[in-house]
Amino acid sequence: MEPVNVAIIYYSSTGTVHTLAQAAVEGAEKAGAHVRLRKVAETAPPEAVNARPEWAQHLADTAEVAEAGHDDLEWADAVLFGTPTRFGNPAGQLRAFIDTTGPLWFQGKLADKVYSAFTASNTAHGGQESTLLALANTFFHWGGIIVPPGYTDPIQLRSGNPYGTSHVTADGPPGDVALQAARHQARRVVDTTASLKAARTA
Ligand SMILES: Cc1cc2nc3c(=O)[nH]c(=O)nc-3n(C[C@H](O)[C@H](O)[C@H](O)COP(=O)(O)O)c2cc1C
Repeated sequence: MEPVNVAIIYYSSTGTVHTLAQAAVEGAEKAGAHVRLRKVAETAPPEAVNARPEWAQHLADTAEVAEAGHDDLEWADAVLFGTPTRFGNPAGQLRAFIDTTGPLWFQGKLADKVYSAFTASNTAHGGQESTLLALANTFFHWGGIIVPPGYTDPIQLRSGNPYGTSHVTADGPPGDVALQAARHQARRVVDTTASLKAARTA
């Protein structure tokens, strides 16, 4: 069978979600998938970005990461989306990309794919679940198959978010638990998608 194609599409201002995305790449590749890591375009004005040195630095550090396009969504059998929380919601930069996908949706090209999501917030109760659930609203509209991590691996009992890998940025950069959770989530997405793909081609 053809390997599973996984697009990992994320937004990150200061690198936390980017680090989780890289761990998801590792998990998906280890599970045998072909993986595209894609950032969405920065939509904030340069004066806003440059007012925070760590934001400007991260933008420069990830200049080589390709930007997500509709072709990535068409290519993918499964998509993992990553976003920091913004007042309990996905970042506007990711929403801006998602809001360009009407033509794909209209042609049914976003349906029947597997979707999953991960996030970061500054505080433990700062809206991780609400951010992931808000993204899931879109997956419902797309006719997607939502694959959350649940408590399907012992690491989930330590990271503790069945909705999707989540990290509290105030605790520092993602550590081993968050990175393992991201790898597990990606692996579960690949395994589930492989089963679906095999059944569809049987
Ligand atoms: C406009 C704005 C709104 C935010 N809203 C929240 C929030 O509601 N709850 C929270 O815990 N953190 C909030 N944050 C903090 C970010 O979610 C947090 O810094 C994030 O983990 C950074 O991820 P990144 O390093 O990938 O950019 C907000 C940050 C900004 C700039």
